[in-house]
Amino acid sequence: MKNYPNFGFSLADQGIETQEQVASLFLTVRNLFDNAALEVRDEGTLTDWRNAWLARKTGVLTMIGDNWLKRAPASLKGHVGRQFNQLRLYVDEKFEEQRQRIEGGAQESALTRECIDLSLPGVHRPIGSHHLIRQVFQEIEDIFVSIGFSVVEGPEIETPYYNFEALNIPEFHPVRDDMDTFYLELPKGAKTPLLLRTHTSPMQIRTMEKQKPPVRVIVPGKVYRRDNPDATHSFAFHQIEGLAVDTDITFCDFTGAIEYFVRQFFGASVKTRFRPSYFPFTEPSVEFDVSCPFCGGTGNSNGGTCSKCKGAAWIELFGAGMVDPAVYGFVNYDAKKVSGFAFGIGIDRLAMLKYGIDDIQVFFQNDVRFLRQFP
Ligand code: FA5
Repeated sequence: MKNYPNFGFSLADQGIETQEQVASLFLTVRNLFDNAALEVRDEGTLTDWRNAWLARKTGVLTMIGDNWLKRAPASLKGHVGRQFNQLRLYVDEKFEEQRQRIEGGAQESALTRECIDLSLPGVHRPIGSHHLIRQVFQEIEDIFVSIGFSVVEGPEIETPYYNFEALNIPEFHPVRDDMDTFYLELPKGAKTPLLLRTHTSPMQIRTMEKQKPPVRVIVPGKVYRRDNPDATHSFAFHQIEGLAVDTDITFCDFTGAIEYFVRQFFGASVKTRFRPSYFPFTEPSVEFDVSCPFCGGTGNSNGGTCSKCKGAAWIELFGAGMVDPAVYGFVNYDAKKVSGFAFGIGIDRLAMLKYGIDDIQVFFQNDVRFLRQFP
């Protein structure tokens, strides 16, 4: 046991009897302390080191005080006390040095981490652009606003009354089969079913309920149908509704407004035509066609049949017509005094037509390689 510091035993138990032995023992303790100091790297190891040496009950200094100093023979007590005091001062001083080193280092590395180099180039965040559908909406809105229409929006969740009944489509009317829709699950006892609107036409009713003629509005928005997705069908798509009602609106105003829109949108060279059609809320109803803008209305392209119009030379654009007088009955307009026209344009197919896109699904896939083509 000689000269090997054992903090749990008295000096006598360790065979220490002379001042020289005491001095050598304390030197060994100091070396042990210095070696342990080499392990101090961060705040965690600093605390461990401090606890090992300075903890009040179990620290090395406490044990030396209790076992070596207090139990030292009278002849050695003064010498052991001096050695012990020197050791204590040394430990305190070294601990303070290490503490400052570790805390200073932590602060320095935080400063290094947080420092900002103002001379570095900034982070480049590319600016996005409007989705092509939004761009087409904007283009159409601008055209109609320029001839006196205003833009209104309506709810995508509708009641069957606005989506069907007030548009002269009673329950069990066969036309409802074409617009099979999504009904919302409602709590038991809810007064009326709710559905995702199948077209923007409910806003005809909501607008006329709110204001007296003259009415000139367009309604851009999303609509939903239980259609199976393919190249020209999506279960969510976009429409723009148009409605003009006044005391003297004729079929000529209707054709004039529509033709103006189509020429502005596709260019002056396209030809237009109406074909008879059927909608319960317009009478007469028409489908509106444009001469195919891809083959110049010839049906042929690159020496063969035009792939866009399949040789028909015409492309169907949208449904429209003069507002059916029965509809005025639902909004308290006097059908004998007012007249008007309405149209509903499928925006996705219109965009496909104008920009030569052959699959409607690309509008909903958010593939940036597609989106970037329309900055
Ligand atoms: C209607 O929705 C009528 N509300 C339009 C209307 C308004 C007529 C006002 C008269 C007066 P239709 O079901 O044909 O009509 O749809 C209009 C357009 O929506 C179609 O021409 C087509 O471009 C588009 N469309 C219909 N179903 C889909 C679908 N599943 N996916 C993408 N576009 C569609």
